[in-house]
Amino acid sequence: METLLKNGHIVSSKEIIIGDLLIKEGKIDKIGDNINAPGAEEIDCTNKYILPGIIDAHVHFRSPGYEEEEDWETGSSAALAGGVTTVFDMPNTNPKTVTLKALDQKKALAKKKSHVNFRFFMGATGDNIEEINKAGDDVIGVKVYMGQTTGQTVKDDGMEKLLKNLFEQTNKVIAVHAEDEEMIEKRMEIYRDENSPEIHSLIRNDAVAFTATKKAVHLAKKYRGRLHICHLSTKKEVELLRKYKDITCEVAPHHLFFTVAEYAKQGNFVKVNPPIRSQNDVDALWEGLLDGTINIIATDHAPHLRKDKETGYWQAPAGMPGVEFVLPLMLDSVNKGRITLKDIIRLMCEGPARIYGLHKKGFLKEGFDADIVIIDMDIKREIRNEDVVSKCGWTPYAGRILQGWPVMTFVRGNLLVENGKIVSGQTGAEVPIGT
Ligand code: NCD
Ligand code: ZN
Repeated sequence: METLLKNGHIVSSKEIIIGDLLIKEGKIDKIGDNINAPGAEEIDCTNKYILPGIIDAHVHFRSPGYEEEEDWETGSSAALAGGVTTVFDMPNTNPKTVTLKALDQKKALAKKKSHVNFRFFMGATGDNIEEINKAGDDVIGVKVYMGQTTGQTVKDDGMEKLLKNLFEQTNKVIAVHAEDEEMIEKRMEIYRDENSPEIHSLIRNDAVAFTATKKAVHLAKKYRGRLHICHLSTKKEVELLRKYKDITCEVAPHHLFFTVAEYAKQGNFVKVNPPIRSQNDVDALWEGLLDGTINIIATDHAPHLRKDKETGYWQAPAGMPGVEFVLPLMLDSVNKGRITLKDIIRLMCEGPARIYGLHKKGFLKEGFDADIVIIDMDIKREIRNEDVVSKCGWTPYAGRILQGWPVMTFVRGNLLVENGKIVSGQTGAEVPIGT
């Protein structure tokens, strides 16, 4: 089966060209002017943009263990609807992905159900380096939680040794959730008698994130490790990381599109670790996105049930969904002149492919996998909870009217989604790494 995308704007981080793109046997066969492919199914892409499928390097699809919140079928469908064709799943499932056995179990689930391509992080426990190294190329990276968070407790005292060992003894990307556990615990005491969602950003203030990030950076330098900081949220961290080009970092959409003012509207629904911040921090994150300090946008898609979010501050779990709307949010920002389409490709396709060394993904090039999303920059639509595909059934972005939406998503050459509706079955596969 061949598919010919005719006369679209073909986008990379370097340029936008108008032309045709031929898909053959799951790969990009040819890019050029007036491609002639008799028998191919033609799709007119006039006035539309052809992008590499989005790679979301940080999702929590909850399976195994928390399938009431999400599973590989619903999570990967939500991803697809939003133009995301590859995801990397985090280890705070049940069982935690900290052994080869748990990794294989999760892989089997994804293989059976996922519509999008996938990869897995393994969590570091302090004594599983051997397992991590045994997993070899089966793991995309190692996740380290420096501070407690949903489904994850932390012992702060062994942290330096744990990071030292990982930096010295593995060749993996060490992806760190940087919040300082000792500070979190002390600051929880200060606010223990209060119960409003706002205290989340006061307990886990910017110093909590900055202290942990600084510590991780220091150790990565000292032990020559390959460090990646997850979900950067503060101005101080942006300023620090601007100095270290060999340390990579990501930002999540909720840190770009919400400030602490959002608690008054959404309460614990926007409780997340690290928390939402001030306008000053948000501005610095956008600056970091544009000047290349921040390498990727990753959603930290962390679905939770409404009933759990509707409890008091101390009971409500941290985390919010994001995989479904991150691309429309960014496309709308392009339409508003805040960022360019080329930047989007750098941050959401090429960036993650480079950092994690993916094989033939993230670029529209001949011979690369035909993971493709076609977008229409003119479509305007309101985000509504009724339309949410993720099993949690809500989104913190409901009510926003965005301009710029995906209209078709292909995974390895198969058209799986058209205008937000799934039109074909499963195609996700494990992403190969290496050149
Ligand atoms: C995440 C979750 O719910 O799994 N929550 C969050 O607030 N980000 C866990 C995490 O990544 O911290
Ligand atoms: Zn996360």
